Amino acid sequence: MTGNVHDVGGPPARSLKPETEPTPQGSEDAVRRRPAEGSPLQVSLTRRAMLFSGSCHPQLATAIAAALGTDLGRVEVSRFASGEIYVRFLESVRGCDAYVIQAHGAPVNEMIMEQLIMIDALKRASASRINAVIPYFAYARQDQKALAREPISARLVADLLSAAGCDRVMAVDLHTGQIQGFFNVPLDHLTALPVLAEHVRAKGWSNLVVVAPDPGRGKMAQKYAAHLECGIAFMQKARRPDMRNVSEPLGLIGDVRDRRCVVVDDMIDTGGTIANVAAALQRAGAADIVAVATHALFSPPARKRLDESAISEVIVTDTLPLDPAGRPARLTVVSVAPMIAASIRAVFADQSVSEIFHDENLESLPRASPRRV
Ligand code: R5P
Repeated sequence: MTGNVHDVGGPPARSLKPETEPTPQGSEDAVRRRPAEGSPLQVSLTRRAMLFSGSCHPQLATAIAAALGTDLGRVEVSRFASGEIYVRFLESVRGCDAYVIQAHGAPVNEMIMEQLIMIDALKRASASRINAVIPYFAYARQDQKALAREPISARLVADLLSAAGCDRVMAVDLHTGQIQGFFNVPLDHLTALPVLAEHVRAKGWSNLVVVAPDPGRGKMAQKYAAHLECGIAFMQKARRPDMRNVSEPLGLIGDVRDRRCVVVDDMIDTGGTIANVAAALQRAGAADIVAVATHALFSPPARKRLDESAISEVIVTDTLPLDPAGRPARLTVVSVAPMIAASIRAVFADQSVSEIFHDENLESLPRASPRRV
């Protein structure tokens, strides 16, 4: 075997214990099945969690582990000369609840395949429950057939994760909520909305209006507007069906004149959408324009477009690693590590995940409707 040996992880992992011990030792069922004291069949029912990182974003995985007071498990991820991926866990995973943290960042297909192979290795090494933690789920924009003879690639990725042996998926801000239906295993939909919205709120800005860059982001924008207790405006966008990443704004619903516009999106890829919206808002008399997005893909020429745009600040999260060369100048990064850590802790302890998000991770709209301006 050749290529880089990528050992993701630190010293042997400390086991993560749930705050609320989920073992049923006190229950009637457990009492009935409990072997007699001293019996060779008597084993500890304490579960243990082990966190592992793929090679996409070890910094985020390390921060998640640190927030949980544990270390990453040791795993070797390397390549054969042909490019094939080799994975081996360097400590026993038998019986553990494994969390495989891997964002589907560049090179995207490699990162997906790495995660699949890690899951397969865990399954064959008798991990009890295998959780795929996916800060950024790739192919999510291909969640339906827009043209004849197209694939539904998001469904294919979901099927691959299930086929590999994953028991649960935890994903942050999926492009569309209905992707949850592509999985036959439980999916916990996490959202960066509260941390991003709180970051904006802490600035104490007045005269705010949240702007949805296209109809697909309407629901997300309504949630931001409800969180920030401000008005909302909508942009209409037309895509070029013959080209990827090419769109143009068609029109604006709502008044943004002399207001501070917060354009919200799930992702910034090449920056075309957000830069076009910013230009349209500037023409409509916006006083200031801020872009807020969960996933910072920043594929070229995103940096150039954002730097040359009227956007005064780009606020994103660290669901994906940021290439220093691709960083726009006016960038703020808010970490999702504490939020993902809290969600892992809740899953491990069989506690509610939606309570962490006060239901803002669910598809239903907030009770108080935002004002349209
Ligand atoms: C589209 O529906 C998405 O929500 C994003 O607006 C889009 O994918 C961003 O891509 P780009 O930055 O290349 O315009």
